[in-house]
Amino acid sequence: MEHQVKAKRSPTITVRDRLFDREQGLKRWYMAGDPVATSFLNAHSAIFPAGEKLFIDSVRHFHDSVPRQLQAQIVAFVRQEAAHTREHAAFNAQLEAGGYDPADLNARTSREDSLIRRRSPIAQLGSTMALEHCTALLAHQFLADPRHLEAAPAEVQAMWRWHAVEEIEHKGVAFDTFMFVSRDWSRLRRWTFRTAVMLEATWKLLKLVALNMNSLFAQDGLSGFGVWTRTLRYLTGPGGVLLAMMPGWLRWFAADFHPWNEDDHQLCEALA
Ligand SMILES: [Fe+2]
Ligand SMILES: [Fe+2]
Repeated sequence: MEHQVKAKRSPTITVRDRLFDREQGLKRWYMAGDPVATSFLNAHSAIFPAGEKLFIDSVRHFHDSVPRQLQAQIVAFVRQEAAHTREHAAFNAQLEAGGYDPADLNARTSREDSLIRRRSPIAQLGSTMALEHCTALLAHQFLADPRHLEAAPAEVQAMWRWHAVEEIEHKGVAFDTFMFVSRDWSRLRRWTFRTAVMLEATWKLLKLVALNMNSLFAQDGLSGFGVWTRTLRYLTGPGGVLLAMMPGWLRWFAADFHPWNEDDHQLCEALA
């Protein structure tokens, strides 16, 4: 079957379960003094603990109804995401200890999380597979272009690289689960569903990250046109990570899209 052939193309999902330094004494703008680059990472890190728990639950829901090979991938996916949740929660606690108040950011994530959790299991899986694609694209850029992380302290770089490697390794799991559970759907129904969930997930993720960055900027005493112009240039100008993610984002809308059509497993070898 189609999904099984494609699942075989993914690399082994290795659960590394790393622990990172809990007391790094991070500078407030640890990305070489740049509040924009720092808050971009912090805005994502704030979303991960709840976000990845949602990913775990929405994929695990289908564990018993998929073929054995995919079941094993789901188990590894869950273990990887659980470790990411734990390490980002620990990282976020350090940001809080350093003076950032996470209340706004956490409330925002938890609102979106509870909206998605009220939906049907397949709709939750849909949001997860779309967000997993966005995460894998970000991970690809973090590993492929060293400029995105090189300003970070070594331990912060190590955490994001570890997370990025594992996101690439398991990038096909939610998608393959969806392809299996929707195997009786027409191609058009699947494509329409995939398109709808990606458009919604992208809009919500961008909004969440932007609002989180805004909260962090406000706590740093930064506001107004200047900081947002810098943010736009940082993310979408030459060398910007969002600009670089664009072609991969657009590939999602191809009728025969599969995460492993873009075989970037070689990026995982640094941590193998
Ligand atoms: Fe993750
Ligand atoms: Fe993931």
